[in-house]
Amino acid sequence: MSDHVTAVVLAAGAGTRMKSAKAKVLHEIGGRSMVAHALAAVSGAGIGTTVTVVGHDREQVSAHIASLDPSVVLAVQEEQNGTGHAVQIALEALSALGKQSDLLGTVLVTYADVPLLTAETLTEFLSDHAASGRAVTILTAELADPTGYGRIIRDTSGAVTAIREHKDAGDDERQIPEVNSGILALDAAFLTEALAELETDNSQGEVYLTDVIGIAADRGLPVAAHVLEDVWQTEGVNDRSQLARLGAELNRRIVQRWMLDGVTIVDPATTWIDSTVTIEPDATILPGTQLSGVSAIAAGATVGPDTTLRNVEVGRDATVIRTHGSDAVIGDGATVGPFSYLRPGTELGAKGKIGAFVETKNTRIGDGAKVPHLSYVGDAEIGEGSNIGAGTVFANYDGVNKHRTTVGRHARTASNNTFVAPVTIGDGAFTAAGTTIRNDVPAGAMAIGNTEQRNIEGWVAAKRPGTTSAQAAAEAEQHQQEKPGE
Ligand code: UD1
Ligand code: CA
Repeated sequence: MSDHVTAVVLAAGAGTRMKSAKAKVLHEIGGRSMVAHALAAVSGAGIGTTVTVVGHDREQVSAHIASLDPSVVLAVQEEQNGTGHAVQIALEALSALGKQSDLLGTVLVTYADVPLLTAETLTEFLSDHAASGRAVTILTAELADPTGYGRIIRDTSGAVTAIREHKDAGDDERQIPEVNSGILALDAAFLTEALAELETDNSQGEVYLTDVIGIAADRGLPVAAHVLEDVWQTEGVNDRSQLARLGAELNRRIVQRWMLDGVTIVDPATTWIDSTVTIEPDATILPGTQLSGVSAIAAGATVGPDTTLRNVEVGRDATVIRTHGSDAVIGDGATVGPFSYLRPGTELGAKGKIGAFVETKNTRIGDGAKVPHLSYVGDAEIGEGSNIGAGTVFANYDGVNKHRTTVGRHARTASNNTFVAPVTIGDGAFTAAGTTIRNDVPAGAMAIGNTEQRNIEGWVAAKRPGTTSAQAAAEAEQHQQEKPGE
């Protein structure tokens, strides 16, 4: 791209049809908001200054954009008087900031609610525009149903002479399948002049940006369409049905790309991968799996079926089956699941195991250490090679504060233990089944905390008379008396 490009991203519209307390452009597909997709495409095309025009829900939208990219200039359009008016507001905001140099070169106009548009498409579009020396280049698409869109009007020689909005178009013009995507590249000097000439003499009483095409044509300035075959990239979202449709298509594209990059995805239709996830070749993703946030799956790992991971790192050759996890790290060769719940701060070492019906939180489990069955592990450190017995609860919360439990290296704790934190179990220590550990266990010790079992004969008959339990106990006694030999 030879010249200087400034992007104007329009995001002031109301989004009424979303029927949402949340601003339309903050609704997400593929793990990020629509406006984040729009800004990523623009910045990926190597643009200098980006101005976003906000209006409806401007506090929400502005705060979100500032969190994505604080360098984006925000321009407020108090009333939505049309796309031309919105661009006027954007250019005024640049002047007010003394960014006059951004009013030279090219202005690219895009929408915040067109989430599938890619940086590659914008780059091609801008280089076409720059190479041609046109006043305006329009990104267009031919649609099977062009209803509602502005139509591309051409003269007999095929040259673009105007864009006619659907509401202003005659019956013949409405037959035209080629539409304005809304994405335009314009010579900045021409745009500044043309914006000043725009009128509101149309059926909507709005300032149409599209009228600058007619102005350029009237002046004999070159205008042309850049036709995009991939019409998905020009589609906007107005309601939640369209949001789901574009979300599914975005996912299809993401899944397709990973498969072509060497990832086995058994069932693309039930696999959902955010645009922010990374996967190495020779990983396998089984059906019913959702990967979101900044999750990263290493080579040789198998994830799924029926697994949801958000911001989870899965190491090489690890297996993660029927698991729900967030903000966690799973080491190389480790195994997780089925039916495991990894909460934030879980770190499982290489070749470690988190097994069935185990919940973990804020816990480091060392290399080769195992929590195989039916346990809750919170605020803990478990050393390498240790094994935690089935049904162990790390009692980390005293009702007011959280406390940590430390288990050393190569410890063997038995089934059905409770570790009442803060407590430390030393290296190589053992515990007995059913023990409640309230005091530290030295390295190499065996901790037995059971009180001796006491049976109170006849307790049920005395305390629970008339119950089915009392009845069963009485029958057992009767049985015993009938067979005195036994
Ligand atoms: C617009 C185009 C139409 C094109 C269609 C593609 C004009 C006059 N029409 O029509 O040719 O086919 O997009 O989707 O440009 N916006 C503002 N401020 C405003 C008005 C709109 O920021 O005052 C923003 C909206 O938030 C939206 C975008 O501009 O992101 C398009 O606005 P919308 O009202 O959807 O335009 P259309 O009538 O669909
Ligand atoms: Ca629209």
